[in-house]
Amino acid sequence: MAIREILLYPQHSAALRRKSEPIASFSASVKRVIRDLKDTLMSRPDGVGLAAPQVNVHQRAAIVRLRAGPSRQGSEAGPPVALINPQIVEARNEQKDSDGCLSFPGLYGRTIRPHYLRVSGLDEQGRPFDWVFESFDAVVVHHEIDHLDGVLFIDRIEGLEDLYRVHADGSGHLVRAPVKLPVPLGRE
Ligand code: NI
Repeated sequence: MAIREILLYPQHSAALRRKSEPIASFSASVKRVIRDLKDTLMSRPDGVGLAAPQVNVHQRAAIVRLRAGPSRQGSEAGPPVALINPQIVEARNEQKDSDGCLSFPGLYGRTIRPHYLRVSGLDEQGRPFDWVFESFDAVVVHHEIDHLDGVLFIDRIEGLEDLYRVHADGSGHLVRAPVKLPVPLGRE
């Protein structure tokens, strides 16, 4: 088990902005990265997705925890699933939904993303898949594919009113606070 350091924005913006390369073969090092991504994501109760560039590996791999699925119901995030070289085949039903990122601790927002997303790629055994993600699962998968292209959720925020911070107050309750200027909106 290896938990890797998650790169934070804006300290590591160059690495987070770099476009990742397709994975050409399932070498031992690629398998280790996938395992580490899973371990790192599962070490974070607040995380539902993690992409390789967030641990400074610029290869097209991401891990997601889905809510829907044949054996799943309700709103709890499921076991980690790997998406290798994911490609969007179809995206529609765009809606504004909540968004956040392990590279932006405490920062949340509302972004417009597809709620119907068909994606092809390879699973962690290298087998091709063609899957449909819906509702918040589509949001999560779309967010992670963005990471592989150096796109961050703040790029999809329309305005300050869609961004907020969550922190614990003196008695440990989570409270929502508006974001103060200047905020790192958009690409530098
Ligand atoms: Ni993220």
